[in-house]
Amino acid sequence: MQDAINEIKRRRTFAIISHPDAGKTTLTEKFLLYGGAIQSAGSVKGKQSDKHAVSDWMDLEKQRGISITSSVLQFEYDGYCINILDTPGHQDFSEDTYRTLMAADSAVMVIDAAKGIEPQTRKLFKVCAMRDIPIFTFINKLDREARDPFDLLDELEREFGIGTYPMNWPIGCGQNFRGVYDREKRSILSFDDSHRGRERIHGIDCDITDTDKLDSLIGERLRTELCEQIELLDGASFDFDLEQVRHGKLSPVFFGSALNNFGIEPFLEHFLKMTTSPLPRLAGEDYIDPFDDGFSAFVFKIQANMNKAHRDRIAFMRICSGKFSREREYYHVQGKKSFRLSQPQQMMASEREVINEAYAGDIIGVFDPGVFSIGDTICEKGKKIRFEGIPTFAPEHFAMVEQVDSMKRKQFSKGMNQIAQEGAIQIFFEPNSGLERVIVGVVGVLQFEVLEYRLKNEYGCDLRRSALPYQQIRWIANKDLDPKTLKLSHDTKWVQDFRGNNLLIFTSEWSIRWVLEDNPGLELLEFSQNEQTEE
Ligand code: G4P
Repeated sequence: MQDAINEIKRRRTFAIISHPDAGKTTLTEKFLLYGGAIQSAGSVKGKQSDKHAVSDWMDLEKQRGISITSSVLQFEYDGYCINILDTPGHQDFSEDTYRTLMAADSAVMVIDAAKGIEPQTRKLFKVCAMRDIPIFTFINKLDREARDPFDLLDELEREFGIGTYPMNWPIGCGQNFRGVYDREKRSILSFDDSHRGRERIHGIDCDITDTDKLDSLIGERLRTELCEQIELLDGASFDFDLEQVRHGKLSPVFFGSALNNFGIEPFLEHFLKMTTSPLPRLAGEDYIDPFDDGFSAFVFKIQANMNKAHRDRIAFMRICSGKFSREREYYHVQGKKSFRLSQPQQMMASEREVINEAYAGDIIGVFDPGVFSIGDTICEKGKKIRFEGIPTFAPEHFAMVEQVDSMKRKQFSKGMNQIAQEGAIQIFFEPNSGLERVIVGVVGVLQFEVLEYRLKNEYGCDLRRSALPYQQIRWIANKDLDPKTLKLSHDTKWVQDFRGNNLLIFTSEWSIRWVLEDNPGLELLEFSQNEQTEE
């Protein structure tokens, strides 16, 4: 058991979140370079090159040169075993992105120094904040013109309602970028033109009080400016409080340039020290301790057809406690069956490796013969742990989808159901309408294309899709209410999900308010907590 405890202690499992183009892929790549997991930059994702990302699993992704599916990368660094949960970087991300955050213990938020907070950062932050996980901010691209750092911090604090604590401070930006000041060491890590490249180069350390050396490194003007800013910062910023960091209330902020490999090593060092090994997880009334000897895990993502050669479905699970052994049988709580998890594997992007053991904090993929659903728990035989369900996030785009060939009703219905079960799309029905047409809701519009592509390629069905004007969805919380009795405006529609829950879809925030005003007592929810019902 001691071995397992040591293994769990050295695990760090986090997600990287950002708006597309802020530099998430570049940062991930640099982490992997430091960890020695890859040999050359450009091997994580060659967006505009022929070399496709190792994480591009589906043909569609390859055609479009984007990464739709979230992947998991594991590597070693300085005695730590690091699991990075990669979230899709394209604008059209999916519910998977949100769910992946359910498996992370902390998040690294990458922000473009010229742009500040962008729409996707906002959405992803909300999901992290829902779980109070620690958020570390990396303000990237200081080698380009950037916004005032005080302004950027102010924006983070105002918009996200959290405190910020700059761990380092930038000296100039763009052509005048000269490095960062490390507040803890009270020294300067200097940046010069030799850093402008992809190589790993160490900066020069210089004490803040060494005026002569500082002047020669950054010039008198920048030195004076820096000293003023540091004084202001020391006087006005939040105090550092590790407990606040660990509860997601205070975000340590780092400035750097991922492309130029600048500021990555200090970031990793601080980050690994400040984050914890896997934390206990709530299951019903109890918290499950990761150091328990009993294995437990929950499914947070299901991915179909990762390898076209053998049509397969992989369920990704986050191990919450104990040690997983390939030889043992485990209990699938929702399916009420024990079995050996088949072909357990870990991923280094698409390099799948069958593994014999894994520990709390790790993510494993197992072959899914169609029995798992998102949120399911797997644990030791004889135990009945049920981890909290994963919420269903509100889709923002809707379309009416019908099959073109009425002879293919069965395939259509099977395909739609399976894809919905994987959680790639959400399907809704108009009460009392047939199954030939359904309303599909997605978090990112690209999922519509994925749906069309998969129904054609895997189920042989062509679709007819017409966009619907709805943008908002709410679950009706009042269980005894008959939706037929509701007063609804012409642009609001009553639908049901596949569990039979009643929902309303709206064209705008305004219509939600209108419906609430017109129907006193009506209670609407923004996301549905998947109920872990006995099957
Ligand atoms: P993403 O995953 O968040 O979408 O962003 P990604 O890392 O792909 O970076 C988006 C673009 O920003 C890339 O340029 C990348 O090289 C650039 N970039 C990332 N970090 C920095 C930085 O610190 N400084 C500067 N100047 N640029 C940075 P691209 O032209 O779209 O792609 P590529 O041809 O360079 O791969």
